[in-house]
Amino acid sequence: LISCSKQESMDALTARVFTVAEQQYLTMDTRLEVTTLPQSIASDSTFKSSTIYWWCSGFYPGSLWYIYEYTQNEAVKTLSAKNTLKLDPIQYVTNDHDVGFQLNCSYGNGFRLTGNEDYKKVLYQGAQSLATRFSSVTGVIRSWDFLRRGWKYPVIIDNMMNLELLMFASKAFDNDTLEYVARTHANTTLKNHFRKDYSSYHLVDYDPEDGHVRSRQTVQGYSNESSWGRGQAWALYGYTMMFRMTRDEKYLEHAENIADMLLSRLPVDGIPYWDFDAPNGNEYRDASAGAIMASAFVELSGFATDEKARQNYLSIAEKQLRTLASSHYLAEPGTNCNFILKHSVGNLPEKSEVDVPLSYADYYFLEALLRYKKAMG
Ligand code: GLY
Repeated sequence: LISCSKQESMDALTARVFTVAEQQYLTMDTRLEVTTLPQSIASDSTFKSSTIYWWCSGFYPGSLWYIYEYTQNEAVKTLSAKNTLKLDPIQYVTNDHDVGFQLNCSYGNGFRLTGNEDYKKVLYQGAQSLATRFSSVTGVIRSWDFLRRGWKYPVIIDNMMNLELLMFASKAFDNDTLEYVARTHANTTLKNHFRKDYSSYHLVDYDPEDGHVRSRQTVQGYSNESSWGRGQAWALYGYTMMFRMTRDEKYLEHAENIADMLLSRLPVDGIPYWDFDAPNGNEYRDASAGAIMASAFVELSGFATDEKARQNYLSIAEKQLRTLASSHYLAEPGTNCNFILKHSVGNLPEKSEVDVPLSYADYYFLEALLRYKKAMG
């Protein structure tokens, strides 16, 4: 039999996803209180929210801004602003590195779409708070203050994502120190976090006295020498973003090396296992890592100089977006506690958030679709 069914166009797919997203996220707001944001589904299948201090608090307002950007629905805009403002105290947080994630997704998108100067001020204060965690001895921003396993100065690959807030603020307020901190963190991470094949360790622990690397480990991956799926996604996105923000070719080269490693290792449907090296029988997919990578691949396709590479990056991104938009991953409206995507993995070694929806999978999925639409003109 020859199938005559035509493949859905990416425009139609994007419209279909944003219809689901709008419905789900308008209802999601009714589940929240004045200081809570969506996190996931709990083990008893009920909706799980977080306080504003959880690292994911910026993703719901950020996704709302993306839905508003696509739909221009004023009701969504009102909810975007309302949920963004919940995060106001985050600008003063100095005991954790996630300020960049939290504020850039919420206030950052809010400022980009509205030009609201109050949002810009919050972003600047947040960048200054984040920069207090930088040490010129180690050359990196400290990720966590809590100490396990004898750590002295732990830095995780995820931290690359926080640099976007610093780069934004350095440009918007003409502050060279913030750019210096971001570039130095990216350079030190490039030197110490990567293996020869461009896969990355999750955590590098530094000696705060002289800056030497004390150990390289995993926290959320399968083993110290394995490639944790989302960690590879943060690395790809982080160096692609740093090239966009600085135009420094070494970041582009590094992002392409990571991308090529991923192209050779991703499953055919484009969605990574929670860890690339997880043994058989333990192979949950992580939709969040697929969504983050898709967004980064689309952006990278606009920067790569080799035409073949551009095509490869765009086509893996399209594959990932099509898989995520399939019924296996995309929720039916009214189900999935109003999250958009199913099947992400938060922290498998801790048996926490395994095969559940996660607010950041939704966020990067919507971002990737918008980026793809722009890339296609
Ligand atoms: N930044 C924490 C995580 O990716 O799980």
